[in-house]
Amino acid sequence: MRNLTEQSISDAVLARFSECPDPRLNQLFSALIRHLHEFAREVRLTPDEWMAGINFLTAAGHITDEKRQEFILLSDTLGLSALIDIIQNGDKPEQTTESSLLGPFFREGAPNLPFDADIAGPVEGERVVLHGRVTSIDGTPVAGAMLDVWQAAPNGLYDLQDKNQPEMNLRARLRTDAQGRYRFRSIKPASYPVPTDGPVGKMLNAVGRHPFRPAHVHFLIAALGHETLTTALYIDGDKYLDSDAVFGSRKSLVVGYSHFDKVANDREPQMDAIKFDFVLNPSPQRG
Ligand SMILES: [Fe+2]
Repeated sequence: MRNLTEQSISDAVLARFSECPDPRLNQLFSALIRHLHEFAREVRLTPDEWMAGINFLTAAGHITDEKRQEFILLSDTLGLSALIDIIQNGDKPEQTTESSLLGPFFREGAPNLPFDADIAGPVEGERVVLHGRVTSIDGTPVAGAMLDVWQAAPNGLYDLQDKNQPEMNLRARLRTDAQGRYRFRSIKPASYPVPTDGPVGKMLNAVGRHPFRPAHVHFLIAALGHETLTTALYIDGDKYLDSDAVFGSRKSLVVGYSHFDKVANDREPQMDAIKFDFVLNPSPQRG
């Protein structure tokens, strides 16, 4: 039997994975082991610290259920989700709308609502209409694009965190019209803290970080012949724009409120508006 040293143990473990029949899986585990071992050597990781890490991940597992996803929150607050998003989308044509994080609060099955619907339900707040177009990179309107939109209430809570909101409140699936236009009414989003009652909150506190995200509205836009876009619009002037706890805000996605706009029809003539045109990347041609 070989004697393993601080250095040779890494090679021994890597050798154990070398027969992996899947080359990508082999690459993933090899790099993971190299970096994980190097991390432990670099910081001289102690058994107590290792156990603290195990306990942290265990707590993240225990608090996670269908409505709470502590591991995504961990990935988000460590900047890993944003990094993967940049790796995935960084080489898209410049004209396309930048992507931003899905985050832990997306839900499948939001209600299908008509053009110009109000998604705020019983929640009170400053009113806003969001509108614009969805086009392809050559400017062609994308008719029938499906927009999933979701946002938090002014109390900083999404429906699934908030007993005072009905299920699926402040969420909708909307379709663009023949000219590629979308429009819906809502309330102005507010900056909010990510959940801090779990291990990730303790981590943020321990390292002296604030938990806030700048005010935003999420969009997931799917259309035939185009790559699906996961993004969000961030409100200009928010004090957390440059220190988003999950590193999701992007300069090109910052929007301001325009005052009176023709689009805010006589139902709510004084309503502020957010106008934003989304540009989708065509899917690669097949065949
Ligand atoms: Fe969010």
